[in-house]
Amino acid sequence: MAAAWTTLEKTYAMIKPDAVGAGNAELILRAAEDAGFIVVKAARTTLSRERAGEFYAEHRGKPFFPNLVSFMSSGPIVAVCLAKTNAIADWRALMGPTNTLVAREEKPKSLRALYGTDGTKNATHGSDSLVSASRELKFFFPNMTLDPVPEGAEAREF
Ligand code: PPS
Repeated sequence: MAAAWTTLEKTYAMIKPDAVGAGNAELILRAAEDAGFIVVKAARTTLSRERAGEFYAEHRGKPFFPNLVSFMSSGPIVAVCLAKTNAIADWRALMGPTNTLVAREEKPKSLRALYGTDGTKNATHGSDSLVSASRELKFFFPNMTLDPVPEGAEAREF
């Protein structure tokens, strides 16, 4: 019998416009599954500038904010809910350092090293805490229960 995963920690992961545009979304989802994550949901969508600004509101006012909003609204993204024991920290570890140029030096097998380009085009996002995972999952999946996921809920929504 498959291990019960209904109470596993969930995180919000995002495949950014550069990686979706390059056709790497499926590879990244497969890498997540190979690393032991369950892809609970994966939905392709495009963020408006307004929605991108709202998602990254905590960074409003920082020098990179306008560039971040432009990039994140420049093309389709894939919004993902991942489940795993220690999902939040483990997904961030799998992504590697924020800047792809640093990731290539420090963690060459990480997702950002493999699929990103630089400090802007860095392929993936991951929530940094339980509080942000909850907010970010609700932002993209407003009808999703964050309580134990029902059996069979792993269907992908592309
Ligand atoms: S901070 O100030 O330390 O909290 O910022 P940091 O964690 O490094 O980055 C927060 C998110 O902003 C993105 N970022 C950028 N985007 C575009 N251009 C530049 N120069 C830039 N610098 C940082 C970074 O990829 C983070 O996005 P997410 O999606 O959270 O990984």
